[in-house]
Amino acid sequence: MTAGAWTSIGRRRANGRVIVCGNEKGGSGKTTTAMHIAIALIDSGHSVATVDLDERQLSLTRYVENRRRWAQSKGIALPVPHHFHVPPAARETAAVVNSLLVRELKEGIASIRASHDFVVIDTPGANTFLSRLAHGMADTLISPMNDSFVDFDVLAKVDPLSQEILGYSQYASVVLDARRSRLHSENANLDWVVVRNRMFPLASRNERKIDNSLRQLSTDLGFRVADGISERVAFREFFTIGVTALDDFENQVLGTAPTMSHLMARQEIRGLLKALHFPLDESNQRKADARRRHTASVSRPIALPDIFAK
Ligand SMILES: Nc1ncnc2c1ncn2[C@@H]1O[C@H](COP(=O)(O)OP(=O)(O)OP(=O)(O)O)[C@@H](O)[C@H]1O
Ligand SMILES: [Mg+2]
Repeated sequence: MTAGAWTSIGRRRANGRVIVCGNEKGGSGKTTTAMHIAIALIDSGHSVATVDLDERQLSLTRYVENRRRWAQSKGIALPVPHHFHVPPAARETAAVVNSLLVRELKEGIASIRASHDFVVIDTPGANTFLSRLAHGMADTLISPMNDSFVDFDVLAKVDPLSQEILGYSQYASVVLDARRSRLHSENANLDWVVVRNRMFPLASRNERKIDNSLRQLSTDLGFRVADGISERVAFREFFTIGVTALDDFENQVLGTAPTMSHLMARQEIRGLLKALHFPLDESNQRKADARRRHTASVSRPIALPDIFAK
């Protein structure tokens, strides 16, 4: 597949698909999900760019850097997305929000989109202008949420006794606004997928309640609920060496022998990818190796134009 050849509802798209990992709740798994989705898409033969808009933490940037470093130190080939990040100084101020700089940033992302099949954007766990900007450009929004009513609360308030949904919370409004404005300005749909993260193997009463409430809310807000990702130590260990559950676990990639937990993690991520309903052509697999070599050789940490430093 060449950049821009993504087909949607019978029409040819001029641009790649923008996938945003977003949720105002911090620590819900946005960065982990973004990296896994990016590597899964590269593995299936697509050109993938990643954009880190979490200018405070830059965790996705670190993840990609760790991956590059680990591959170098081990002498192994690990595919790396074409990575971009905003400079650390991109703080939200009235001057910035109201300036032309936002438009420049939008144009920067639009040009990345024009030259890749997929752009995966990681966002901060807060309602910042960078996060809103990303939500407004999303074709697919993946919102990981920890399996807890504390996380559910950023979507909607729930009556503690009846479990009735009492009203939507601020993050739900942000997404609904983004969806509305995208529809009006570009006639494009935002596909919103909520993923329960860090689930425990045995569903407790609390988790069943969360499941019920989420399904009820999904109809009201128009999101889909994907199968969940379990709590696994492996996900925490992956970051420092930049690997994912999708990587080939042989040839010293993990630095240790793979366990059943690694394989289960891989299954779960593949399940998530399936739930996203992207057109992943099997024949792309053949191009994957060539693309993998190319990506690994050309990818460098490239910053978006340093528009905030002026
Ligand atoms: N399924 C999982 N099992 C175990 N640990 C996980 C899982 N998913 C994420 N984690 C860990 O939870 C922490 C938060 O994950 P992550 O950084 O991806 O969340 P985030 O939403 O990007 O956070 P922030 O809002 O701070 O940017 C990290 O330490 C990560 O390794
Ligand atoms: Mg993060």
